[in-house]
Amino acid sequence: MCGIVGYIGHREATPVLLDGLKRLEYRGYDSAGVAVMNGTGVQLRRCEGKLSNLEAALKKSPINGNLGLGHTRWATHGRPCETNAHPHMAGGVVVVHNGIIENYEELRRFLEERRHHFASETDSEVLSHLIEDYANQGIDLKNAVRKALGKVEGSYAIGVFSEKDPTRLIAARRASPLVIGLGHGENLIASDVPALLNQTRDVVFMEDGEIAEIIPGKVSIETLRGEKRERSPQKITWTAAMAEKAGYPHFMLKEICEQPEAIIDTLRGRISPETGETFLEGLKIDEEECRALQRMTLVACGTSYYAGLVGKFWFEELAQLPVEVDLSSEFRYRPLVFTPKSLILAISQSGETADTLAAVQEGKRLGIRSLAICNVVGSTLSRHCDHVLYTHAGPEIGVASTKAFTTQMVTLFLLALHLGQRRGVLPLERCREIVKELFQIPKRIEEILQEKEKLKRLAQRYYHARDFLYIARGVNYPIALEGALKLKEISYIHAEGYPAGELKHGPIALVDENVPVVILVSKGKIFSKVVGNLEEVKARGGKIVAFEIGTDSGVQDKASDWIGLPSIDDLLSPFMFIVPLQLLAYYIAVLKGTDVDQPRNLAKSVTVE
Ligand code: AGP
Repeated sequence: MCGIVGYIGHREATPVLLDGLKRLEYRGYDSAGVAVMNGTGVQLRRCEGKLSNLEAALKKSPINGNLGLGHTRWATHGRPCETNAHPHMAGGVVVVHNGIIENYEELRRFLEERRHHFASETDSEVLSHLIEDYANQGIDLKNAVRKALGKVEGSYAIGVFSEKDPTRLIAARRASPLVIGLGHGENLIASDVPALLNQTRDVVFMEDGEIAEIIPGKVSIETLRGEKRERSPQKITWTAAMAEKAGYPHFMLKEICEQPEAIIDTLRGRISPETGETFLEGLKIDEEECRALQRMTLVACGTSYYAGLVGKFWFEELAQLPVEVDLSSEFRYRPLVFTPKSLILAISQSGETADTLAAVQEGKRLGIRSLAICNVVGSTLSRHCDHVLYTHAGPEIGVASTKAFTTQMVTLFLLALHLGQRRGVLPLERCREIVKELFQIPKRIEEILQEKEKLKRLAQRYYHARDFLYIARGVNYPIALEGALKLKEISYIHAEGYPAGELKHGPIALVDENVPVVILVSKGKIFSKVVGNLEEVKARGGKIVAFEIGTDSGVQDKASDWIGLPSIDDLLSPFMFIVPLQLLAYYIAVLKGTDVDQPRNLAKSVTVE
């Protein structure tokens, strides 16, 4: 959460900072600010609310200069308002911060005793005062930052410059992401790669415990203890256009529509359509180890967690591997019992989710190997895990995850096939049959996307509802959870996902004629059970909105609304259900007039605990 951008070079800093902040706004949008060094000193502009407010302020009162820092905030300490907005400045030392300074109260008391006056309620402001305090003792900026960080407990990615030495930008990180963009006679820092795409695609990812001194023509990285670090730049393959709306009204709709292509990219080169043989380049576990594997623990948050729940079903069915799925935030604080032949699989779009990173760390501490399924190349998670499989979804900007989810599912499915083959438990015939179906998914999703108007009409009928229930069974139960989460996140309508068979154990009490019950019906083993659950709802006056795979089997008559979906092997049915549920949530949110891409209170990357 919170987005940081910094620039030093020969160009005007403000437009570069604003461009970067626009691409980082998904990280937080409670307030935004920039500080730019010009001939007379530091010029600061900060505004509560969205970046557009800051843009308007800068239009009215522009600032020029070739060195600057920008920030977009997701509030942790201190309410969203102008004085709590970053950058923070103390005696000419300018700081932007992402993370949480856990001992800020203690540091603040210490600094107040030394006659520092605080303007904000934030934890971050202590950093500017602490650095200034050291700088005033005659210590150069880099070492003042280093000394200040030595006093700090918690997580941070920071950008710092000083009015007194406006020739350099200092950056440092611990448990919050930070990447350096390399230009010609100019350099940048950012929380995330999309912020850099319009400027450069040559980047260096900073590691925890590192500090960088950045001047226009050079970047020097060292550890906080002073050991020099040499690292070759990486080339980013994402383009700036991939992070644009491309004519769509919202990133979310664009990303929903990109799913067929994203899935093709995820499959590319990893599986033979003829034989079903898998080639997972990021997984360096040989056949013997695959056979010996006794258990896999999946850790993730939010939508990625739901992908994990679908994955569990596939691992158990195709690879006969016992799997447990844990929310990262729970996993990290409970007693863990592992056998040595276990693997932790962490799933994360951003690769920066603090709880998921901590869960992997916890596993490492116990000597358990880790595998990441991740979208962002070079992210902290991808670097911390022993193995990594990228989802290749391209940049996902909408806060509500869509194409990251479907590509996570594709990657999980490939991994299940891979393990099934190597463990010798997946019959060749079944493997070929299911792989044939797997390659049909992009086309089938395309067919669903052609029917967008149907979902629009459905949204029109239900967008006034106050509560929704989503029910399904088996491999589609997590899809009910994800469908409900999508609706909650972007439309602010209360929605709950439930296993259909559980309804009569409690939640059925919620059912009346005002509660739409979305039910996912596929033609697998438990078809008749799901239809039975549908009857239970109907008997209590519930409004049934049925999504059914394949032709109508009498469900349409029982439902208030019915949407037919392309046929597919039951194991792959989650791909058919999730897309219309994403579209339903999207169109409902549009009708409600919410901010679809940046829903209230949320941030795309949750980099704090
Ligand atoms: C999804 O729509 C959410 N915004 C959220 O639940 C997200 O999936 C979660 O925060 C995990 O993020 P990650 O995949 O980047 O780790």
